[in-house]
Amino acid sequence: MSKFNLQLCEVTKSYEMVKSNKIQVLKEVNLSVSQGELVSLTGPSGAGKSTLLHIAGLLDEFDGGEVLIDGLSVRNCSEQERTFIRREKIGFVYQFHHLISEFTALDNVALPQLASGKEHKQALRAARELLEEVGLSERILHRPGELSGGEQQRVALCRALVNNPMVLLADEPTGNLDFDASLNVYSLIEEMTRKLQISTVVATHDLDLADRMDRTLNLKGGLLSFADAL
Ligand SMILES: Nc1ncnc2c1ncn2[C@@H]1O[C@H](COP(=O)(O)OP(=O)(O)OP(=O)(O)O)[C@@H](O)[C@H]1O
Ligand SMILES: [Mg+2]
Repeated sequence: MSKFNLQLCEVTKSYEMVKSNKIQVLKEVNLSVSQGELVSLTGPSGAGKSTLLHIAGLLDEFDGGEVLIDGLSVRNCSEQERTFIRREKIGFVYQFHHLISEFTALDNVALPQLASGKEHKQALRAARELLEEVGLSERILHRPGELSGGEQQRVALCRALVNNPMVLLADEPTGNLDFDASLNVYSLIEEMTRKLQISTVVATHDLDLADRMDRTLNLKGGLLSFADAL
């Protein structure tokens, strides 16, 4: 039986706004992603894709249900434990790279290693190896402003992967790229998912890209369904 690195069990989430109705964004969402599995998350704007990814990435609170990372429920974790899980077990890629503009690509990728207590030399070695793997060996000393959009996203992917996460969450990672750069970043996500046996979820509006993944999930009206079955 395959092992699930990421599981959401009946997760609910609503936002309560002052002087307006409660918005129920997620209604008992269930999702299990196996090791080495790549799942796409589609759905209209405002459906809750980012909300779901932020909850799975322990970047946001949820109201009910369970989130399990590596089989362990995070519901009763302290903030310190959540920080540890985020840093050691989860990689997150955003639509806009969110790299530190004053740092080189190498230092940006090394940062999570340093945060987890690795020695400087070891952190730089891990960062360099990953950057070479995504074809950026000639760009390691470039700052984000000196990189193309596709290169920035490849650096952001390396940063998400450098601590060998079990779960990779990407929120429209190619939303800002042209076709070729988009395919390149996607291919790297797929390659790394298989190689490192990560459980990966990619939110995207690009249905062709979504179709390439193992499963396509659709979020609508707070409910998650297999888009294939629609
Ligand atoms: N912090 C917040 N407070 C209140 N409402 C919020 C908050 N964050 C998101 N929402 C609402 O929750 C809903 C889901 O938002 P979310 O960003 O998850 O959608 P999405 O599917 O990622 O959309 P997009 O495709 O445009 O990125 C939206 O209606 C949004 O207005
Ligand atoms: Mg979003």
